[in-house]
Amino acid sequence: MEKIVVQGGDNRLVGSVTIEGAKNAVLPLLAATILASKGKTVLQNVPILSDVFTMNQVVRGLNAKVDFDEEAHVVEVDATGDITEEAPYKYVSKMRASIVVLGPILARVGHAKVSMPGGCTIGSRPIDLHLKGLEAMGAKITQTAGYIEAKADHLHGAHIYMDFPSVGATQNLMMAATLADGVTVIENAAREPEIVDLAIFLNEMGAKVKGAGTETITVTGVENLHGTTHTVVQDRIEAGTFMVAAAMTGGDVLVRDAVWEHNRPLISKLLEMGVEVTEESEGIRVRSQLENLKAVHVKTLPHPGFPTDMQAQFTALMTVAKGESTMVETVFENRFQHLEEMRRMGLHSEIIRDTARIVGGQALQGAEVLSTDLRASAALILTGLVAQGETVVGKLVHLDRGYYRFHEKLAQLGAKIQRIEANDEEE
Ligand code: EPZ
Repeated sequence: MEKIVVQGGDNRLVGSVTIEGAKNAVLPLLAATILASKGKTVLQNVPILSDVFTMNQVVRGLNAKVDFDEEAHVVEVDATGDITEEAPYKYVSKMRASIVVLGPILARVGHAKVSMPGGCTIGSRPIDLHLKGLEAMGAKITQTAGYIEAKADHLHGAHIYMDFPSVGATQNLMMAATLADGVTVIENAAREPEIVDLAIFLNEMGAKVKGAGTETITVTGVENLHGTTHTVVQDRIEAGTFMVAAAMTGGDVLVRDAVWEHNRPLISKLLEMGVEVTEESEGIRVRSQLENLKAVHVKTLPHPGFPTDMQAQFTALMTVAKGESTMVETVFENRFQHLEEMRRMGLHSEIIRDTARIVGGQALQGAEVLSTDLRASAALILTGLVAQGETVVGKLVHLDRGYYRFHEKLAQLGAKIQRIEANDEEE
């Protein structure tokens, strides 16, 4: 198994870094390719991530042809054949995001069988909002032997009010509605940039989706959808991760092609801390002086609130800002595990239910740490940059789900970091 080894101390990051297409955009886009009964679909700017390989397998498992030209970062999908209705356990259990094939299969085939996604380390992550919305559109849903089975001779439009602006549920319902009879209104919809990217893609395929990016999305069903070519939106979370890395090392980094509009909640908190963030023609530039960083209070919320996917990385930044910061995690019920590991590096923090208090400005010591999920892995590596001594991060399977060549990009900015083969049997 491999590990990442960081030599702490002076890791001031300087230079420019490129970011990839968004993981949380390309996964629903791949699911949406199932809807095209005519012509092929080409996705460009596809990131090379393990989750993408998994979703490609899920779509292949539905009898679509999927070719991934990694060199060109292009995936081509031909779903013009007969799409089968079952998404197999072995892939869905690897990645809960596969659940977003439920809506497209149901819309295209009239019958869908998808393995129930498990919870994961950050929370139970139910799918009740997905199922309630599909039932409102006429689906009959049963759960047998760990599978969700949905049947609908033909989905019909519905007026759906979501209890919570769930990203995945909004995506599933929007996709299902594209081929339903009549008009579907989704109120209290998720507003993330990845929702907007999916709506643009669906409309390029011939769908009629309006209002994506606002809390009310309206979809007018059409007969069928056709293939198209689409460029995946940039990954705002990867961009944000490098912005935080620059800020916490007193660096000066240009994050190429980062989209200011997609990162406004993060940028406003960086500015509040005393970090210099400027919009330049090639992207977003981040500069900081460690002695100027002030403690802040942050609460994660659905977009346009502060993104939960930046919570772990931002707590790493809070460790270098003098004073007591607080982070309130309102989206997931168990997303502070990285703080337990940072405590082993000497961090003074206290977690009371959804609130973490972090005492910044203390010297941290490098340690062997365990990463529990994708964003926690990134946060621990960043903390290793500023701790004294060596930090070793294992279980890189989490990191590789969402970051491409993360250690190489950090090294190219000046970080003392390596990825090595480790023969620990317990890995
Ligand atoms: C997407 O997950 C992202 N994943 C997550 O990113 C991200 O953290 C999350 O949205 C929130 O922004 C992908 O896009 C592949 P949700 P998703 O449905 O769709 C509850 C990362 O690190 N909920 O908005 O699963 C749920 O339990 C990953 O890149 C219900 O109660 O998120 C959670 O507490 C992690 N019932 C909250 O809503 C439902 O039916 C947010 O979930 C659905 C969700």
